[in-house]
Amino acid sequence: MSEDQRPLIAVVGATSKQGRSVATTLLESNQYRVRALTRNRDSAEARALADLGAEIVAAPLGYGHQKDLVAAFQNADGAYLMTPQLEPQDNAEFVLGKKLADAAVEAGVGHIVFSTLDNVDKITGGKKYAPHFTDKALVADYIRTLPVTHSFVSLAFFYTNLLEYYVPQMKGDTLLMPIYLPEDFCAPFVDPTTATGPAVLSILSDPDTFRGKTLPIVGEIISPREIVDTFQTVTGIKAEYRSAYSRDELLHYFPGFAANDLLVQELIGMVEYAVEYGYFGREHDLDWSRRLNPDMLTWEKFLKSSGWRGARHQFGL
Ligand SMILES: NC(=O)c1ccc[n+]([C@@H]2O[C@H](COP(=O)([O-])OP(=O)(O)OC[C@H]3O[C@@H](n4cnc5c(N)ncnc54)[C@H](OP(=O)(O)O)[C@@H]3O)[C@@H](O)[C@H]2O)c1
Repeated sequence: MSEDQRPLIAVVGATSKQGRSVATTLLESNQYRVRALTRNRDSAEARALADLGAEIVAAPLGYGHQKDLVAAFQNADGAYLMTPQLEPQDNAEFVLGKKLADAAVEAGVGHIVFSTLDNVDKITGGKKYAPHFTDKALVADYIRTLPVTHSFVSLAFFYTNLLEYYVPQMKGDTLLMPIYLPEDFCAPFVDPTTATGPAVLSILSDPDTFRGKTLPIVGEIISPREIVDTFQTVTGIKAEYRSAYSRDELLHYFPGFAANDLLVQELIGMVEYAVEYGYFGREHDLDWSRRLNPDMLTWEKFLKSSGWRGARHQFGL
């Protein structure tokens, strides 16, 4: 039997929402082999990827595992790199992203696609604190200096934030939806679990077109008022917007955040940045991913396909 000649793509954070989308889309395309990097090869998500045909490799993303990381990228033609949400201190995400990129280059990977965001520190002149944006931008800057073909994706706010982190609260017969943006502020949102893969498949399949580019992934540009109205229409559940935009409002609805003041500062910095400067810089083509993927989920389609009715939902982590 002849050896499988399809290009091999290593997916970091393969069990994450965005990573799972990438791994699954690549496998289902039948054009690529996938190596899924995870800390825990026995998780249900890792086993589900193995069932789809992924090679599962245990690779700790923490410090001091550079040899393991290089080995995990060995023989890969391309790599999807993402950094998970880490404690917002000491540039931890930058350090991790740089290590991932260095390991991929050391292993001889041909094309890196890194999941980035804008440099909030630079754009705001240090006025807004959002290291999980800025660190990713610094990783992207670093990758631009490396001898490897590289492209970047930049994901909008996740619809899933409302399911995982900013969960609505039932009061009487009304679902209160505390949202971290002002009621009429339109922001880009996306479903990372279905939107990331098709975008990355396109980029990997056409490196010449996407070399050096940063591609935003957007499902819909929508305001909290529209989010709540659409939720009511789709589910038939009475719902009302509540503001979780300011620090006091955020902690009123989600007192648990108070235990981590740096995280609160970061969440406030991020939303103020989005409102005052725009989530994406003007240079981005916000329609790109929607033109590319006719199945891109709007909020309404996301509600219909997920069947979400306001309860907390963990994405298997
Ligand atoms: N929420 C948003 O609106 C939004 C928008 C744009 C970008 N982002 C960025 O997206 C990233 C998160 O992506 P996601 O939501 O797809 O990830 P996720 O679902 O939260 O999964 C994170 C994955 O990272 C792996 N991991 C490795 N080390 C970890 C650690 N120390 N702590 C936690 N997880 C670790 C875990 O996989 P294993 O357990 O298998 O190793 C896990 O599957 C963050 O960097 C965030 O800034 C978020």
